[in-house]
Amino acid sequence: MGKEILVAGGAGYVGSHTVMELIRAGHTPIVVDNLSTGHKKSVLDAIFYKCDLGDVAGLKKIFSRHNIDAVIHFGANCYVGESVVNPHKYFKNNVGNTLGLLEAMLDSDIKKIILSSTAATYGNPLKNPIDENHPQAPCNPYGLSKLFMEQIIDTYEKAYGIKHIYLRYFNAAGADPETRIGEDHYPETHIIPLLLQIALGIKKQFTIFGTDYDTNDGTCIRDYIHVMDLANAHVKAMNYLNEVKHSDVFNLGSSVGYSVKEIIERVEKITGKKIPTETSERREGDPSVLISSSDKVKKILGWQSQYSLDEIIESAWKWHKKYPKGFEDGK
Ligand code: UFG
Repeated sequence: MGKEILVAGGAGYVGSHTVMELIRAGHTPIVVDNLSTGHKKSVLDAIFYKCDLGDVAGLKKIFSRHNIDAVIHFGANCYVGESVVNPHKYFKNNVGNTLGLLEAMLDSDIKKIILSSTAATYGNPLKNPIDENHPQAPCNPYGLSKLFMEQIIDTYEKAYGIKHIYLRYFNAAGADPETRIGEDHYPETHIIPLLLQIALGIKKQFTIFGTDYDTNDGTCIRDYIHVMDLANAHVKAMNYLNEVKHSDVFNLGSSVGYSVKEIIERVEKITGKKIPTETSERREGDPSVLISSSDKVKKILGWQSQYSLDEIIESAWKWHKKYPKGFEDGK
């Protein structure tokens, strides 16, 4: 019999794909989301509660109704650019609401959490590929908010015995290969969905943020990882935490980097559409190159990415073509 797992922020992009994978693995996800950026439709028929993670009383009620074994925490705002202009939002929602979730967990004596963390906690890397021991020095408030979340949970482990796994994602992209769910942010700021919206004629032009980086073609290099690979890693991490019962941290990436210009070329090839571009200044808070080392996660969790960049773009393209307006639930 599968276990009940509370999935905080489970109506968001990575959260909803993980909910699908948890169900497939025989677990019972209990989704909690305030729908500020998530979509009710994206959880399909999983058990769902609309509740803010800062609403401790509301969370306690949900915990008391179920036999929750562990928590997977996705609930967060995740735009690097927005976090630079509105850091308060990031500290309040990401850090503040994590305290609410932890309070409700402590009250219900739940001592296991998988945290959705990020490569943005490393800041401007001293070297690539980045391994888990790389110093964490975020260069934007989003990354800082996630680092605070990690540090709070570290402290709670010492004080209250909360075991954790931090999964530091690189650039999540792609969609459910069966095209039931996909990426639907508003406003959209991520490169792959933006390019696909341009290919669909929904948006007119793509702005390349900076062409003077120290890379082959002058544009930023990122490590793109399929959202289904991420979802699968959460299930593996959950099983691992149940088995070994000690805390750990893993990077989740493909260990291959692509520049912004290379992504544009791949999207043009796959969609058969020309993407009009303009160039602008660098976007504040963007590191030049972020590429993950996958050695640790491969060795310990037996996980490595399965999907190529083309498969990432193809699956996202199918989703955007089928649902050009996303989930159409007004958000
Ligand atoms: N980019 C553009 N123009 C755009 C949008 C993006 O040139 O209109 C560039 C960015 O400058 C960056 C690359 O495309 O070099 C990827 O940008 P995204 O906004 O798609 O993603 P980020 O790298 O900023 O951030 C993502 C997630 C974060 C995560 C980070 C880790 O949103 O949550 O990856 O690598 F922390």
